[in-house]
Amino acid sequence: MKIMELEGQKELKGTIRISGAKNATVALIPAAILTDEEATICNVPEITDTDALCNILKELKVDIKRASESIIINPENMENIEIAESFSKKLRASYYFMGALLGKYKKAVMYFPGGCSIGARPIDLHLKGFEALGAKVTNEKNKYTVEADELRGANIYLDFASVGATINIMLAAVKAKGTTIIDNAAKEPEIVNVATFLNNMGAKITGAGTPTIKIEGVDHLGKCFHEVIPDRIEAGSYIIMGALCGNNLKIDNIIPEHIESLLSKLEEVGVKLDVGQDYVIVSKPEKYKPTTITTAVYPGFPTDLQQPFTILLTQAEGKSKVIETIWENRFMHIPYLNNLGADITVKNQTATIMGATPLKGTEVVATDLRAGAAMVAAGLLASGKTKITNVEHILRGYEQIVEKLTEVGAKITIKEI
Ligand code: EPZ
Repeated sequence: MKIMELEGQKELKGTIRISGAKNATVALIPAAILTDEEATICNVPEITDTDALCNILKELKVDIKRASESIIINPENMENIEIAESFSKKLRASYYFMGALLGKYKKAVMYFPGGCSIGARPIDLHLKGFEALGAKVTNEKNKYTVEADELRGANIYLDFASVGATINIMLAAVKAKGTTIIDNAAKEPEIVNVATFLNNMGAKITGAGTPTIKIEGVDHLGKCFHEVIPDRIEAGSYIIMGALCGNNLKIDNIIPEHIESLLSKLEEVGVKLDVGQDYVIVSKPEKYKPTTITTAVYPGFPTDLQQPFTILLTQAEGKSKVIETIWENRFMHIPYLNNLGADITVKNQTATIMGATPLKGTEVVATDLRAGAAMVAAGLLASGKTKITNVEHILRGYEQIVEKLTEVGAKITIKEI
């Protein structure tokens, strides 16, 4: 088990370079098996979720070469075998192999995926999409078999603009016969990145980034080279840390349009930002104003930044609220924040934060990935030492977090216990 230790109240100064987006990478790696030749993906973050997906590729006998920040994936000799539960439960995104294997071989056998326990996380919309394309789905003790004699384009309306279902249906539909339309599709930048990747291989996808995506099936997908977009959630997490402890902290290699909702909320609470073409410079203000944030699908305020943003609200004078509308269990960090000195109550899907309260270091738990980022933000701000356990959650999504924060002045270490 790994433990992280932080000594708080250090000024953060200098530059943090943002890595490739986790939530794009975890879809691009399974999507790469759809090529009949070879796919090169660069700007791939070195995080444990990337490793978990590469392990699945190895199980499927896919040839992979990893160099610094890039992966070359060649599925020429791959075998479509059942993905064991020990692999699928390592992360949520293992479910993208369902769409990709179905699209390539018309058959996928795997178990229910793992991932952060932030809600029930059903996959009914994914499965309904596969069925609409002509697949038969059977489920026996968590094992899913999805197969079709032929995949045919269809009109699919998603009851919720699910990121995972939108991507998975795209993966299954790229080689289907005819045209597929996904209505009420998710619009997140990661969807656009995956559609661009598939189009680079020869797919015919239009409308990604809008609520209606059109996919005209093709027979062959070829060689391609692709770059992962910068991670907007990693960027947002460090910008929030800069708003807490920064003195002209530069968050570099980002696409500011991808985090507009965060930037405007930061300005609303009194944080001054210098926003450039591919960077944001952020400093801690003298005081923060309270506000309400309501999480929503893109371009709304991202649920994945709600937890780190809450730390900022503990420093605002007066009453703030966080309303979580995407996940039913994303307030697990709150008891730990209260242990650090915050005054937060949770009722149903709303957290009410009374501020400002000083935070004092103690032992806390990273209950999930972004709760972990929130604990790091809290530890940077708090007086004294903060110890974070279950750090494995954080390492699933933040490349070189200790190195990046140390470089800008934080006192932070990870050790194995
Ligand atoms: C993606 O999860 C991200 N994960 C999540 O990031 C992110 O929080 C989420 O999108 C929302 O932005 C990855 O990309 C790997 P959804 P995903 O399908 O695709 C319901 C992080 O911290 N739903 O858009 O699983 C679901 O229960 C992670 O990086 C169904 O009901 O999210 C939820 O309430 C955590 N049935 C809502 O839709 C379905 O079949 C949104 O889920 C699918 C989803």
